[in-house]
Amino acid sequence: MKKLLFLLAALLSNNAIAHEHEQFTQEGKAAIKEFAGTLKSSLVTAMKSGGPIEAISVCNDVAPSIAADISNKYGFQVARTSLKIRNPDNSADDWEKEILFQFEASKQQGEEVKTLFVSEATTQNGNHELRMMKAIPTAEICLTCHGSDIAPAIQTKLDELYPNDQATGFKLGDIRGAFTLRKTID
Ligand code: HEC
Repeated sequence: MKKLLFLLAALLSNNAIAHEHEQFTQEGKAAIKEFAGTLKSSLVTAMKSGGPIEAISVCNDVAPSIAADISNKYGFQVARTSLKIRNPDNSADDWEKEILFQFEASKQQGEEVKTLFVSEATTQNGNHELRMMKAIPTAEICLTCHGSDIAPAIQTKLDELYPNDQATGFKLGDIRGAFTLRKTID
């Protein structure tokens, strides 16, 4: 009987995790859409009004604050990461690195970057977490600050702000990085 109750409890808790995972996947997709849209429109507006140097400050200040707003709104952590980072605060952890390598492999096999997506329920050191990543393709506008041929004035500003910048040399269509979301579950 005890065994049966234990089994039932385990089943119910698995079921609860599955339910929460499904909800997380749906809300996460919406959060990423909102994050990506807000970032891109802030970037385009800043590039038009003040040029790329001005726009660097959008990425520098505005991106983390948009991430914080969206994290608060949805109740999980929203951020960006990459295998080649500009800001060390955006470093990928082991799980994120593995997914980014998987994304690179899928791209090599001909999958479209914009479709690369993972949502997983993970357990690490006994902690349950829901995690999600969606690849970010490199568009034309991104090359101004992440490409191979960066204008000297922009390069100077980037060197000043990010002395260990790795996020250059990208080509159109490359995986620039990924949106990354996480939520702890009790
Ligand atoms: C005006 C310059 C500029 C442009 C244009 C730009 N970025 Fe960035 N990008 C930055 C800066 C500066 C950072 C560092 C932000 C920070 O401090 O968190 C950054 C960081 C990132 C990151 C976070 C990971 C990391 O390297 O730290 C991603 C992902 C990213 N950019 C993707 C893009 C994509 C995709 C585009 C095109 C749609 C783009 N960027 C266009 C300047 C730019």
